[in-house]
Amino acid sequence: MVSEARILIAPSVLAADFAHLGQQVRDATAAGADLIHVDVMDGRFVPNLSFGEVVVDAIRQSTHLPLNIHLMIVEPENLIPSFLKAPTDQIIVHAEACPHLHRTVSRVKDQGKQVGVAINPGTPVSAVEEVLPYLDFVLVMTVNPGFGGQRFIAKALDKVRRLRRIIQEEGYSARIEVDGGVKADHTAQESVRAGASILVAGTAIFNREEPVLQAMERLRASISGVRGE
Ligand code: DX5
Ligand code: ZN
Repeated sequence: MVSEARILIAPSVLAADFAHLGQQVRDATAAGADLIHVDVMDGRFVPNLSFGEVVVDAIRQSTHLPLNIHLMIVEPENLIPSFLKAPTDQIIVHAEACPHLHRTVSRVKDQGKQVGVAINPGTPVSAVEEVLPYLDFVLVMTVNPGFGGQRFIAKALDKVRRLRRIIQEEGYSARIEVDGGVKADHTAQESVRAGASILVAGTAIFNREEPVLQAMERLRASISGVRGE
């Protein structure tokens, strides 16, 4: 059952110190991260630019962990091949960016890679329901994508609960991932209670207040013993 899955923590490098990116990724890896979340933004699907293939390649050189690659770009099918290089690479596309979502998902699966679909706060669960059986992840945005450090939108947890129910009832294997504003407070706990089993955390892990190891430990501690409702 999804609610009993081990909770995975995926630090988002968007909040890292880019002058020391390799070291930050190594720190997160050593601190016990499960995945490294990588936000690719094109300035069109979202109102911000981040980085592309060259930087993702450099991140891959700095960790043995799977890269959880969140594509916030229009027409992602054109660029997907350049982001799938290691056997463990995982791709997440946005439902809103893919008119042929089934085809896009199938193409990633055909490469033998794990695939997820993300939905924005304003997008209903129905946008992903028809492809849910094929997914390894469904990513529920808990902020409007484009920037780190935004406030968690608690209403999005209704969609997490709805997705968990569908996944359980239908016997699908997709994990539910939440992304945006997740911290070592009620936001992480409530996400896990609602049914999320992957927590993306950017500023909660990479910040100037505390070392990455301490931030990871605090986030883990905040969900210790917390289970899906
Ligand atoms: C937002 C990105 C997130 C972001 C999360 O568009 O998809 O992954 O890095 O950052 P925090 O955890 O700071 O909200
Ligand atoms: Zn993200």
